[in-house]
This record gives sequence, C-alpha cells and structure tokens, in this order.
Amino acid sequence: MCGIVAYVGHREAAPLILKGLKRLEYRGYDSAGIALMNQGLNIYKKKGKVKDLEEILDGEALQSNIGIGHTRWATHGEPNDRNAHPHFSNSGSLAIIHNGIIENYSAIKQNLVKKGYVFQSDTDTEVFVNFIQDIQQNTGCLLEEAVRLAMKEVVGAYAVVIMDAGTPNQLIAARKGSPLVIGVGDGEYFFASDATPIIEYTNEVIYLNDFELAVVRDGELTVKNVDNILQSPYIQTVELELEAIEKGGYDHFMLKEIFEQPRSVADCLRGRVNADSGHLVLGGLRDYTEKLSKAKRIVIVACGTSWHAGLVAEYIFEELARINVEVEYASEFRYRNPIIKEGDFVIAISQSGETADTLAAIELAKSKGATILGVCNVVGASIPRASHAGAYTHAGPEIGVASTKAFTAQVTVLTQMAIAVASKKGTLHEDTFRRLLFELERIPSKIEKVLKSDEKIREIAEKFKDARNFIYLGRGYNFPVALEGALKLKEISYIHAEGYPAAEMKHGPIALIDAEMPVVFIATKDSSYEKVVSNIQEVKARKGIVIAIVTEGDKLIPTMADYTIEIPAMHEALIPLVSVIPLQLLSYYIAVMRGCNVDQPRNLAKSVTVE
Ligand code: F6R
Repeated sequence: MCGIVAYVGHREAAPLILKGLKRLEYRGYDSAGIALMNQGLNIYKKKGKVKDLEEILDGEALQSNIGIGHTRWATHGEPNDRNAHPHFSNSGSLAIIHNGIIENYSAIKQNLVKKGYVFQSDTDTEVFVNFIQDIQQNTGCLLEEAVRLAMKEVVGAYAVVIMDAGTPNQLIAARKGSPLVIGVGDGEYFFASDATPIIEYTNEVIYLNDFELAVVRDGELTVKNVDNILQSPYIQTVELELEAIEKGGYDHFMLKEIFEQPRSVADCLRGRVNADSGHLVLGGLRDYTEKLSKAKRIVIVACGTSWHAGLVAEYIFEELARINVEVEYASEFRYRNPIIKEGDFVIAISQSGETADTLAAIELAKSKGATILGVCNVVGASIPRASHAGAYTHAGPEIGVASTKAFTAQVTVLTQMAIAVASKKGTLHEDTFRRLLFELERIPSKIEKVLKSDEKIREIAEKFKDARNFIYLGRGYNFPVALEGALKLKEISYIHAEGYPAAEMKHGPIALIDAEMPVVFIATKDSSYEKVVSNIQEVKARKGIVIAIVTEGDKLIPTMADYTIEIPAMHEALIPLVSVIPLQLLSYYIAVMRGCNVDQPRNLAKSVTVE
C-alpha cells in the first residue's frame, strides 16, 4: 500500500519519478504527489491518479536532478489534495514521502501541538516529519541523526524518504516493516517500494532492512542501523525483464496475467519436476522435506487469495501426506495466542511477500519455536527473508491488483511440496507419485486449452454483467476454487458474490436462490461429482440459473445446467489449477463490461503492508 519513488543523480528527476509512480500505482491510487528541488523545495500533489498529477505539472520549477514521489492508499485521512504526500515540515525545509502507519502518531502530535506546531493534513506522515524537525531543532544535530532518533521513538511501519532544502544534494531513507529498495546506478541512486521503477536504469539493488537508515549525500551512499552502527549493504542483481512489467498488447494487466498462466505454471515446475526420471525437488526446501514428512501438524498462514491457495494445500497435504493441516487467516492467528509448539511447521503464503498480517503471524510463530517455510512470489521480499526456508513461485511480476497467476503458481508449489513430502513419508504409492508428476507437467497445456474458451466465457459474461448477486459452489478440492471465484468477481466488478461448499447451501444460502440468481458450480468429474449433481438439481428445482464448470465429455450436467464451460480431465488433486481459470476470465469480462477499472479496483491495493 502506497508506492514511493525517489531519485538523485544526473537525470531529470520528474519524468523518471512519474514513470516510476505509474509502475507502482497498483500499490495505491487515490492521490499522488512529487517534491523537487529547484531554487527551494517545491511540492505538487493531487487527489486521483498519477495522470491527474501530471496535468498540474508544468514549468521550469520541475527541472531538477533530485526528487521524491508518492502514490497513496489512504490510511489516516481521506483521499484529497491536502492528505496527499509529500508533506512539508512546519519549517518548510523538509519534505517526506511515507508508506506505512505510525501507530503512536496521536501522542506525538499532541506534544507537537503543545509546542506550537500546526498541521495541514490529517496524516500520521506529517506528524513524523515534524517530529524529525523538532528533534533536529532541539538537538542541533544533522538531519540523519534526527531521523535515527525519531526511528527509536515511533511505533508502527514505515518506509520513508526525506529531502532537505538546506542540503539540496541529499536523500535520506529509513525503513521498518514496509519495503524499500535502493537502485545503485552509475553516480545515481533510486529508491522505490519495489524494483519495478528501477530496473529500466539498473539491476543492482540493495534491499534495506528493518531499522536501517540510508543516506545519499554528494553521490555517496552510507547505510547505518538505528543504533548508529555502519552497515555494509549487500548489492544484489535483480532478474527482472522490462517486458514483464508492461502490458504487452493486452488491454489490462489482469488479462495478460490470466493468459500468462501456461507459462507461469511451467516456470514454477521447471527444474523441479521430471516425470520421466521421477525427479521432484524444490531446491529451497531440499533440507526440509524429510523434516516436514515427520511433522505432526502444519499450520498455514495467509490472507485473501493466498489463503485460498492454503485451503487447496490443506486438502492435498491431508490426502497425500496424511498430515494434519490448519489454515489460518494471518490477521486472526496473530492476535489470538495460537497454540504453536517447537517442531511445528508454519507455511506462509504470500504473492507480495510484504503482507503485514502474514509477516506478523510469522514473527509470532517463530517466537514460539516454529519452523517457517515461505511460499512467495516477489524475490527478496520481507516474508521470504523472515522465513527459515521456502520456495519461490516464479510467476513473474503480478501487477493487476486481483491475483490470478500468483494463485495458480502458489497451488503449483504447494502441490509439489505435498507430493514430495508424501513420497518421503511413504504415504504415496510409486505409481501415483509418477502419475502426479506426469499430470503436473501437463497442466500448462491444459490451462492453454481452457483459455481457448475465452470467447464462450465472454458471451456468458455478457448475459450476467448486470446481475446483483452470484453464488459459487464447489466441493472438496473445488471448494477453495469457489471461494476464489467469488472473491475475484466481487473485488473487480463490485457484484456481491458468496462462495460456499456446495453441500452447505442447504444450511442457509439456498434461501437466496430464485430465477434471478446465477449459481456457478465447479462440477468436475471427481469424487464429489454425484453429490454436486444433486446440488445442481436442488438449485434448478428453485429456478436458479446454473453456470457449470465441467469435465470435457460430461454428458449429464449439460442437460441440467444453463451454461457449461469444459475443462480437461485430470487427477482430482490438480483440478484447482485449471478449474479456477474460467472463473478468472468470467470475472474479468463482467468487470470490463461494467466499465470497472479491473487493474486498480476501488479501495484495494496490491500489497497490504498495513494491518
Ligand atoms: C485478491 C488479492 C488479495 C491478496 C491478499 C494477500 O485478488 O490479491 O486477496 O491475495 O491481499 O496478498 P499477498 O498474497 O501478497 O500476501
């Protein structure tokens, strides 16, 4: 949530920062702003998107080789021009951009107000910058020292970058709990919430750690920690192609990412699975497979779509490896004194690797002696760094706010983990092991085939684009898929949608069924098939409209359902990887037909770095 970009070097800062902010707009898009140094410190900010900010930018004052920019997802204070970042300090000499939340801002603000400070906005960020100014004025210290002392006092999460009119060739950045990457160029430095605004210029980056402070002054970078100890930052090379973060001819990132899934799932399997030789190794988990196979219990923590991937994993681990799995919302887990014992394994699933609740759940579980395994997409993010071991999903950058390819990649990794553990444990017959690997290798081509139903799904979307409610039903492995289908629809089209286990319908939701209600059944040929057929009949008996995802060649369900979409047959445990695809497309087309902004749905942000 919130994207920050800053630059100091020999280039024009404004166009570079604005381009970077557009790349980060998926992190927040309710207002945007930029501060540049040109005969003093100038701030321009505007409610709305980065393009709305661009409209108010003009003139020579924009010419500068140093600047900071921000795209906001509001936490404190409504989205308006006043609350947009950057914020000035009272003296007018400091400007700050901030991603995160300062939890004790209210107490600090009260103190500052007593001293005569005046606030222009409702934000915690303006409190932070004035707190820094106050420390500097009271102690007469350098700005970097004032930032360091402020870091010791503030509670919460932050990635900040600060400019000082008095030191025009300097940027100071600090981090705790919110991501901050520093791009190291030739005589130039870039700061951003992730590497996407940076890679066009350099692929050498430093991931700032919590409680670290970076100062670039006169072309020199120094990093120290909150205890004033100099750090030797580790410069890494990021493997990220520019095309991966552009739309590549698609109307939206979400559509591009849906269509990328044959490739992203194949990337996730590459080098890990070989059915011919019976090879299955997740490199990052090599040393943990045996330990996991002896685990009495696995706890999975995640949020949103990643939580749905965790639910799929619960079914697979329990079925194949016979290990008890509990899937927890990270936000609940972290606040309810969970029972975690030494020897427990916690799997944390996260696309961004920055989700605040998941990160806090990890820290809690770690403090109780659990071993943490991370399943993340963004390389080098906080969650993989906080985990003991893990496996990346290799889906490539996911920019559409609604998660699509990250989900299938997460399920692919978790499926590989479950098969590897089951094989080690001896709960999986060699034939089934080989068959699963063989079928896993064929998932990308099966997804490819389902994507060819695109036109048919678009026609179904046309019929239901004005629906006010939807119900999604599935059983077994397809129950989490029903939840995921409903989440996709509601988040991008704003249509109310509920996902349920199909059999639960009788315990309440059936009351909602009438001739207006579209009910999406994930009704593939699996061990629940007959039961789901009965559930479809129950809906039809009440005149509900049935859209069914069925297995190719199914002759029965098409005689009952109003619309059917076929997917190829496969081993039951792998169905979610494919049955979710038509649901992603259905949501996408409905949202586009309703005129919604699918890549940046209202109120949402891609990376939820606040709790
Ligand atoms: C839904 C969606 C969210 C995320 C959730 C967790 O499409 O994207 O529900 O899945 O915010 O985010 P990560 O996976 O980054 O931890």
